[in-house]
Amino acid sequence: MTCKAKIIGTGSYLPAKVLTNFDLEHMVETSDEWIVTRTGIQERRIAQATEYTSMMGAKAALCALQDAKVDSEQIDHIIVATLTPDYLFPSTACLIQKELRAKKASAMDIQAACTGYLYALSLAKALVETGIYKNVLIVAAEKLSSITDYQDRSTCVLFGDGASAALVSLEGSGLSIDSVRLGADGELADLLMMPAGGCRNPATQETVMRREHFIKMAGNEVFKHAVRRMESASKECLEALGLEELEISWVVPHQANSRIISAIAKRFEHLPEERVYKTIQKYGNTSASSIGIALDELLHNHSVKAQEKILLTAFGAGLTWGAAVLRAEGEKFA
Ligand code: ACO
Repeated sequence: MTCKAKIIGTGSYLPAKVLTNFDLEHMVETSDEWIVTRTGIQERRIAQATEYTSMMGAKAALCALQDAKVDSEQIDHIIVATLTPDYLFPSTACLIQKELRAKKASAMDIQAACTGYLYALSLAKALVETGIYKNVLIVAAEKLSSITDYQDRSTCVLFGDGASAALVSLEGSGLSIDSVRLGADGELADLLMMPAGGCRNPATQETVMRREHFIKMAGNEVFKHAVRRMESASKECLEALGLEELEISWVVPHQANSRIISAIAKRFEHLPEERVYKTIQKYGNTSASSIGIALDELLHNHSVKAQEKILLTAFGAGLTWGAAVLRAEGEKFA
């Protein structure tokens, strides 16, 4: 049997500042009642001016390293998933490498929007299982408040800031990454995007005036694709392992909207909704970070036992989507 890569440590970081629905009522024409009913979100965290994506990511990474009992000098490679990098270049991964003093590690960013954690996990699994690297650190970090339009009520109520991290290795006790499925459809790129700031529409006074440096989203369309894609990726993952729904102990979905999460839960006949882990009410949608934050919290708040299986699933801009099955293994979960 080939040795499987596993997550041997997890960590997360949330900024202290809370933005409640009641605060938003003073900023745009909305109400706590609308936001809670349509999204399930009550509050979200907002980074201070000095809390950058790299800084939040490094803090989450330090927690993951501590959890794994691995020193930063032992990291071989760092993958950062983010759509809100500190700069277009250099990569946020390089800034985190410096922050961690991970001198031996190579470093790169990837961009798969809200599916970033799963794309990073898949890459880390491949790099570790092929023997290219021993310890790969994945970090998903977002300062979405920096690209959120606080004049657009249809998006500004949804997003929050935060970071998560995981150390992936062949050795040690952890969550075996048994299966990952990823997908993308660039035909739907227009549904969710930031129109300016790249080489097609470099920043000009006009792009700023037209508020094109903020998230634009066709919410209803994204909603439909999200449910369908997360369901199919999850079912493919289970099928690949010959698993029944009943064998899954927890589902950790991307935290975009509690109605999307409920719709996913309903597509699984044998999965009670209380086994679907939610942080949406307190953190909103933290894009790439959201699954990692929820997974870290689940592991801290619930005693996951050896051989229990956790299904992760996400979707995001691109469109991109994916799912993964993790299995608890070793003395950490005795
Ligand atoms: N407060 C009050 N009213 C609002 C608000 C608000 N914050 N936002 C929209 N409305 C109004 C609309 O103007 C509309 O009014 P109208 O009927 O008079 O025209 C009405 O509410 C209904 O609007 P809808 O857009 O149809 O509302 P819907 O129920 O679809 O909810 C939402 C919108 C929450 C955005 C939902 O579509 C959604 O969650 N979509 C998925 C988004 C998502 O998950 N994105 C994730 C990817 S993020 C990433 O990759 C970065």
